[in-house]
Amino acid sequence: MDVGDLSPVEQTALLTEYARAVDARLPEPLLGDPLAERTVAQLDFDFTTLGVTPSVRSLVALRAKMLDEKIATFVAAHPDAVVVDIGAGLNSVLFRIAPPPTVDWYSVDLPAVIALREKVLPTHDRSRSVAASLTEPQWTNSIPADRPTLVLADGLFAFLTEPVVIAILRRITEHFGSGVVVFNDYGPVSRLNRIMGKLATRGANSPHSQWDFPGFKDAHHPESWAPRLRLLAEASVMQRPEAAAFPPALRLAGRLSRWVPAIARKARVLQYGF
Ligand SMILES: C[S@@+](CC[C@H](N)C(=O)[O-])C[C@H]1O[C@@H](n2cnc3c(N)ncnc32)[C@H](O)[C@@H]1O
Repeated sequence: MDVGDLSPVEQTALLTEYARAVDARLPEPLLGDPLAERTVAQLDFDFTTLGVTPSVRSLVALRAKMLDEKIATFVAAHPDAVVVDIGAGLNSVLFRIAPPPTVDWYSVDLPAVIALREKVLPTHDRSRSVAASLTEPQWTNSIPADRPTLVLADGLFAFLTEPVVIAILRRITEHFGSGVVVFNDYGPVSRLNRIMGKLATRGANSPHSQWDFPGFKDAHHPESWAPRLRLLAEASVMQRPEAAAFPPALRLAGRLSRWVPAIARKARVLQYGF
């Protein structure tokens, strides 16, 4: 199947899904999502142009596992929950979690990505798509506001500017009565980091050229952006026991991260309540 006419930022959805597909093929996957493999197998696209190195694959797969754990805990505690996956891409997280049938699941992304998602993923009774830009406040309009809500953003914020990320977090806390937001994060990303990333991956169809978010060091910082947000948890992908299976250089970085917090921050999962 042709992926259609995707803009560079929309194409980043192919990268994360491909990383999870490659992980699923390993004898001992970190995440193990067979639907990811099924999804990329349907697409007529040269995935080797995306620059998915073994390190990228490992980080994407393990952070997905950590985010999945947060979602599974939330829906177990709140069987009437609404889960909202913003910048959902082709992620098959709904099928990995297999929530109780009382949970409603919304996947929000740009129209071209939602159209592709609906073609390649199986249907599900409680799944709804929202084809909208998160830069427009109306993206929440069709989503119920009065139930415990988990908002997931895996791989999204890096591609948005700080004012847009702030506006999204404010929109979440204004629209939904109560819940949590969970997302992956890279700590502070300087202009120099972004330029180096672009140069290092020149020629590859790399997401670095789409990077827009300067990030932040202190995980409490987003509390100042949306008054109801409260930091609940900060964990580093580098410090999970599964990091023992990382490729050698990344494994070394994982060990160093115990002494160098800046390394730990480069791959973290953050959770906020509201
Ligand atoms: C790196 S992908 C991650 C996709 C998915 N969460 C995953 O884990 O595979 C980033 C996603 O954010 C979406 N995105 C970027 N800007 C957006 C916007 N303004 N509104 C909605 N979605 C957006 C892209 O289309 C893409 O699907």
